[in-house]
Amino acid sequence: MDDLKFESTLDHYSDLAKKGINHYLPQAEEQPIQLHEAMRYSLEGGGKLVRPVLVLAGNNLYPTLADPIPAATAVECLHTYSLIHDDLPSMDNSDLRRGRLTCHKQYDEATAVLAGDALLTHAFWLLSESYRDQPEIATPLIHELSDAAGSRKLIGGQMEDILGERNDYTAEQIDFIYLNKTAALLTASLMMGIHTTSANRSVHHSMRIVGRNLGLAYQIIDDVLDITSESTTLGKTAGIDIVNKKNTYVKLHGIDHSRAKAKELTGSAIKHLSQLDTDTTFLETFVQRLEFRLK
Ligand code: IPE
Ligand code: IPE
Ligand code: MG
Ligand code: MG
Ligand code: MG
Repeated sequence: MDDLKFESTLDHYSDLAKKGINHYLPQAEEQPIQLHEAMRYSLEGGGKLVRPVLVLAGNNLYPTLADPIPAATAVECLHTYSLIHDDLPSMDNSDLRRGRLTCHKQYDEATAVLAGDALLTHAFWLLSESYRDQPEIATPLIHELSDAAGSRKLIGGQMEDILGERNDYTAEQIDFIYLNKTAALLTASLMMGIHTTSANRSVHHSMRIVGRNLGLAYQIIDDVLDITSESTTLGKTAGIDIVNKKNTYVKLHGIDHSRAKAKELTGSAIKHLSQLDTDTTFLETFVQRLEFRLK
């Protein structure tokens, strides 16, 4: 796929994601205004929208059975909740997110906790509401997202990430954190796109491998950028993993080895995409770009 076609497709998906967020979130004027404003404040900052783009691109791979935009919106709501809570003083204690003050700095801690709770709940309400006439789609979507977001995956990964601040972790423990706090939701995003299509079982299997490899690479690059980049570029506080004594892949293996691992995982994700019986060129380029992203 040439650069121009890639950029216009990415713009199109980002635009759909932004419109979905605007359309499916309670208006900021709705009571309680402070809560709805805070939800929108965090969602409408400068996020990269990687997860909704994965939903929309996944939907585009095979004949579509349902509108993927509510699913794309739900994933971004859930992701944004995880970031609001991740930034709290009791978690990573971060002041900057998506180029703005974090939710608890802009408002206060109680509002940030509640805005996160509300976004998490809204994600599942939105899925059950939007796909109510298609239970055969609604059920796998709700199952996929709740599976990725629960105590065995995203929240479990976050728990181990926090506990790791007090202990030295092995490579296996760091893999557990990355697979669960990050790769699970990226995999779920791709899979939710696929659940809105007629793709067969073998596609499902391949896409889970793509999500795992892409997800691990994504968190490794995030940890590299924490060290090599500036807060102004990242739109979030750089260098915070060292302050928080995080056990990261970079701490254990160093930057060069981490970049090499991200490259290997990205290559594997692209290989599995290219073996599918459909045009995967957008996703291949997207995954490749994520390896070299600057924020
Ligand atoms: C940040 O996610 C948390 C990680 C899992 C690395 P993103 O880097 O996708 O953050 P946004 O959505 O673009 O703000
Ligand atoms: C967060 O990982 C992953 C989540 C599930 C929120 P990080 O703590 O490294 O994410 P950033 O760097 O704050 O975005
Ligand atoms: Mg964290
Ligand atoms: Mg953090
Ligand atoms: Mg980070």
